[in-house]
Amino acid sequence: MENRDIRIFSNLKALSTAAAQEFFRYAKETIAARGEFRVALTGGSTVARLYQILSNPPFQTEIPWDKILFFWGDERLVPPDHPESNYGQALKLFLIQVPIKTENVYRIQGELASQEAVEGYTNQLQRLAGSSGTWPRFDLVLLGMGSDGHIASIFPDSIIEEDDRLPVLATIGNYEGRPGRRVTLTPVIFNMARQILFLVAGESKAHAVKEVFSEGSDPKDWPALRIKPMEGRVVWMLDEAAAIQLPEPIRALAKVD
Ligand code: 6PG
Repeated sequence: MENRDIRIFSNLKALSTAAAQEFFRYAKETIAARGEFRVALTGGSTVARLYQILSNPPFQTEIPWDKILFFWGDERLVPPDHPESNYGQALKLFLIQVPIKTENVYRIQGELASQEAVEGYTNQLQRLAGSSGTWPRFDLVLLGMGSDGHIASIFPDSIIEEDDRLPVLATIGNYEGRPGRRVTLTPVIFNMARQILFLVAGESKAHAVKEVFSEGSDPKDWPALRIKPMEGRVVWMLDEAAAIQLPEPIRALAKVD
């Protein structure tokens, strides 16, 4: 809990602009230090605004896009050109509008059967880890959160604990009529990240946000509580509506604009 930082913005636009600035600042800093920036993207409607902002100046022209390696925290099992594909969404909203290197895109193959997609992505991650015997460490992980508390495709009833050693899993989740068959990274990988940025907006998320910040909430019910990076930072960017059920002293301290 200690390394969780909350920032509350007046609306989704302000939140997304701040997220784009954070992405830019952190990418520049990481590329200067290590030559590349590894980011895991998310799906959902909240992050769409960030993607649009990144596809426009100044970010479109200023970010060293060719030094960024793109991954996904989860994927819906649909082909890449399907309107519900998380990869397809990011591609359409910003990746085709910025000068990335196609060989730096590590997508989950949603067009495959779930176990094949899991194996394919696990193998990609293994190859990147090389002989280090561990999984690659992401510099930044973007995550949304559902009103039921799910993150990536780890749903409250997803069996995760039993599979705690596996980096990639197939799950099933019914949420807002979206495709239910999913492939997701697990806390094994997420918790190695250097920074995790949650983007959560709208009043429908207010109850889940309150639970995630309440003492005694159970990670089985609120999967965001499984995110406890060993050495990384966690930043929660909320809009006022999503933060409305947090205790007033927390809101007062976290208010940014
Ligand atoms: C997905 C996501 C998922 C998403 C949340 C929040 O593939 O659906 O990765 O975890 O981030 O459902 O979605 P919204 O931003 O649309 O509320």
